Amino acid sequence: MRIGLIGAGNMASALARGLGEPVVVSDVDRPRAEALAREVGGEVAESNAAAAAAVDAVVLAHKPAQLGAVADEIRDEAHALISILGGTPVAVVEQAYPNRPVYRFMPSIPVEVRQGVVCYVPGTRAGDGPEGEIRELFGRLGTLIELPEPLIDAGTAVMSCGPAFYALVVEALVDAGVAHGLAPDVAAKMAVDTLAGTAAVLRVRGNDTHDLRRRVTSPGGMTARGLAALERGGVRAAITRHSVANYVITLIYVYVILIFIRVLMSWMPRVPYNRVLDVFLTFVRDVVDPYLNLFRRILPMARLGPAAIDLSPMVATIVLLVVGQLVANLING
Ligand SMILES: NC(=O)c1ccc[n+]([C@@H]2O[C@H](COP(=O)([O-])OP(=O)(O)OC[C@H]3O[C@@H](n4cnc5c(N)ncnc54)[C@H](OP(=O)(O)O)[C@@H]3O)[C@@H](O)[C@H]2O)c1
Repeated sequence: MRIGLIGAGNMASALARGLGEPVVVSDVDRPRAEALAREVGGEVAESNAAAAAAVDAVVLAHKPAQLGAVADEIRDEAHALISILGGTPVAVVEQAYPNRPVYRFMPSIPVEVRQGVVCYVPGTRAGDGPEGEIRELFGRLGTLIELPEPLIDAGTAVMSCGPAFYALVVEALVDAGVAHGLAPDVAAKMAVDTLAGTAAVLRVRGNDTHDLRRRVTSPGGMTARGLAALERGGVRAAITRHSVANYVITLIYVYVILIFIRVLMSWMPRVPYNRVLDVFLTFVRDVVDPYLNLFRRILPMARLGPAAIDLSPMVATIVLLVVGQLVANLING
């Protein structure tokens, strides 16, 4: 199966290294795409559309904000879409690519060495495309876990953000070792090998972290004092708060997308009746209008020549993003 990559950034590179297959890659930054194609094998496409046309499935490895623009370029050429876009539900990608099979994966950086965790949400048309082959391909990258979509943010906080959290702990251990006289490279080797060894032990012992801590922690000893200091420093609470804040931000982005769809609905002529579309559009109206009406009541229409423009969706979106960010910051402390 031929795989294309739209975007040749950090995650696309990690995926391509882990997949070990030649890829067709395209990026607005062409030298970046060339470097990746040179490294993993494959070729650089002249455009996103050319990349999509040349492959069986194309990985959307650009930023989530570029979903609409990229879809406009490759919608007609792409056969199947693999989305790794953070915080973007599979239904939103399906909306951008009607009638195409869509597969949502959430990878983590260790996929690069085939030791990652990859969460998977099949789209509603997954069975229309090469689902088995795509699952096999992503299964090579480490542990593949199919999740109901509402749990994907919780999964992301654990397995996709996790490597950064572990890296911070390793850095702190190295700094502490250096502060007490170890050479930096020796401290780094100790910390990283200990991380790998700890993971290996946990694996063979059924992921029982409690048992492992008990076996390392002698009463009143150095480890017990260190663990108490970590708890006082709020490590556990900070990780929990982060995942809640993440969830709030995702909800807000999804709501902003619904506002955007609501605005499009008011601009577009009526489309021919379709039951599924009608249910969806009614849902959007019911969810978004009560919020927009708050602004419609207080904001006058802006005049642009003969046209009257409703500013409320724009102001409502700005208020939502600002308030959402404030709430997320408050949760994060
Ligand atoms: N990094 C992670 O750990 C991780 C984990 C899970 C999922 N993801 C998801 O993976 C995606 C990529 O993340 P990343 O960290 O790899 O970001 P990144 O390093 O910024 O890579 C994105 C690449 O896409 C390019 N690009 C932008 N607009 C494009 C367009 N219209 N057509 C083609 N290429 C375009 C960017 O170029 P410019 O830089 O020039 O804009 C950049 O090279 C995101 O959707 C993210 O949510 C990331």
